Amino acid sequence: MPADLFDKVQNYTLARDAMARGVYPYFQALQNSEGATALFQGKEVIMLGSNNYLGLTTHPKVRQAAADAVLEYGTSCTGSRFLNGTLELHLELERRLARFMQTEAALTFTTGYQTNVGTISALVGKGDYVIIDKEDHASIVDGCLMAFGEMRRFNHNDTSSLEVQLSRLPEDAGKLVVVDGVYSMGGDIAPLPEIVRIAKKYGARIMVDDAHGIGVTGPMGRGTAAHFGLMDQVDIVMGTFSKSFASVGGYIAGKADVLHYVQHHARALMFSASLPPANAATVMACLDIIEEDPSMIDRLWENANFMRESLTRMGFDTGRSNTPIIPIIIGEDLRTVLAWRALADGGVYVNPVVPPGVPANKSLLRTSYTATQKREHLVRALEVLADVAERLDLIPEHRSQLKESVG
Ligand SMILES: Cc1ncc(COP(=O)(O)O)c(C=O)c1O
Repeated sequence: MPADLFDKVQNYTLARDAMARGVYPYFQALQNSEGATALFQGKEVIMLGSNNYLGLTTHPKVRQAAADAVLEYGTSCTGSRFLNGTLELHLELERRLARFMQTEAALTFTTGYQTNVGTISALVGKGDYVIIDKEDHASIVDGCLMAFGEMRRFNHNDTSSLEVQLSRLPEDAGKLVVVDGVYSMGGDIAPLPEIVRIAKKYGARIMVDDAHGIGVTGPMGRGTAAHFGLMDQVDIVMGTFSKSFASVGGYIAGKADVLHYVQHHARALMFSASLPPANAATVMACLDIIEEDPSMIDRLWENANFMRESLTRMGFDTGRSNTPIIPIIIGEDLRTVLAWRALADGGVYVNPVVPPGVPANKSLLRTSYTATQKREHLVRALEVLADVAERLDLIPEHRSQLKESVG
């Protein structure tokens, strides 16, 4: 009897077991999400689990731009950028992005995921190498798997490990180093000056995935490379529209000739329908707002810094975070999921992350912050966190002083 392909379907019980125990945290619907707060399972929750860093998803000008674009262009382009799916709107957006990033050109894709997959697989050909950080985003890994070249990985943010990997490669091979600017789970920043120095020593090109850096760090929110003053040293900056830009989609910014090549070789761009008009218009409205008044970036950092200082004082382990992504490292999977459940019941929404999202015994609650959160939202969230930590005894060594150190 040949094996049935669907045997694995019957044998997959992990998610159903968690559902039966009432501790299944994924694919759960939000009834509404205003930005700072949301409606979850019929209850208002303080939102510490979005990537809506600037809180622009509900900004009146952004909503209006999306609605106007639907009325003017309809709901879809029904084709890829390559053929019938390019509107003047896409070209205008690319010009705006290039101006914002201060690069020669920008190229948009339909999702951030496709941006990485398409760009890396287009550039890393047979005989080339792509060298990535072990904590790089899954879309980077998938881009490497789709490329004809070979992938090498170095230890997270460990520049000597990067150098070891580069030194083992043939001198005359093409090489691309790809790092996240801001790591999406740990909330730590790549040591870009040293990465650039080493990559250049070995003749490697550099790409930075700044999904969590654009709109968040650097002058005007131009991202991690701009933060380090390295925009002219990094070959490609990748960004998404699904975070600070309140939309969906992605882009790369860099030299016009490199983007021209990617545009004609990236299968994820050429064989997938283009960004819908409303999504493109949303990003342009966000750019208008940021360029007019970038002070919302300061408010985001005030909120994030207040929370990091408070959480650390209370005794939570926030790892190496130094951005608006602040993990609360719990360790054990079950305790992490129980803490998620108790926080949701108490009115605080966070994202539980268990392996393979993080290494074994490093499960965490991913919290992330928004410019539009008010101090009272954050203080309330800290009170609920203190209460849950006490009830579940999450940090025994700080048990007695948890509540006094809130706020
Ligand atoms: C670092 C990083 N890169 C790429 C992506 C993919 O972007 P998108 O969700 O916009 O497709 C994400 C989003 O999860 C991300 O965190």
